[in-house]
Amino acid sequence: MSLRHPVLAATLGLAALCSIPGSPALAETDPAVEARQSQFKLYAHNLAVLGPMVQGRIDYDADAAQTAADNLFHLTRHDQGRMWPEGSDTGSRDDTRALPAIWEDLDDFAARFGALQAAAENLQGVAGDGLDALRPAVGQLGGACAACHDDFRAAQ
Ligand code: HEC
Repeated sequence: MSLRHPVLAATLGLAALCSIPGSPALAETDPAVEARQSQFKLYAHNLAVLGPMVQGRIDYDADAAQTAADNLFHLTRHDQGRMWPEGSDTGSRDDTRALPAIWEDLDDFAARFGALQAAAENLQGVAGDGLDALRPAVGQLGGACAACHDDFRAAQ
């Protein structure tokens, strides 16, 4: 039986909630939290093409690199205004790794997304131009991910 089975999934979900003593897990799932986590998964889904290319683990493929870079460009243009509501931090919910520091300095947090957008734009411009052009552009992008995670995402 697949875990997608609704009754089984619901049972497992309930078990997970009940097994965390004193946690705020009983809050409903928040579509905003799910949306932003899904967005990050899509970033990672595309980086999973580019990372192995620059690491030499798979052959460089200009079309595949350009497609992933185009996707990242557009994904990083998605307006996030509704994805980060107050009270959706690690102190309020246990289904998120978003640190309260985000809401203490939203301008700084937004600037980190600005750096990611700039890196994605640069990447889109060079992804099809060969491995030597791709490598630093992916490095810049990965650096933008890591810089934000270091300050605003809880360790797992
Ligand atoms: C401006 C800050 C910021 C940037 C830039 C950023 N992230 Fe994140 N990322 C976060 C935060 C905060 C979370 C935790 C979100 C949550 O759990 O609600 C997160 C979570 C994630 C997750 C886990 C998602 C899940 O399944 O819950 C992945 C994967 C991820 N980021 C990948 C990336 C990648 C790849 C990049 C760069 C292309 C990136 N992120 C750029 C802040 C950022």
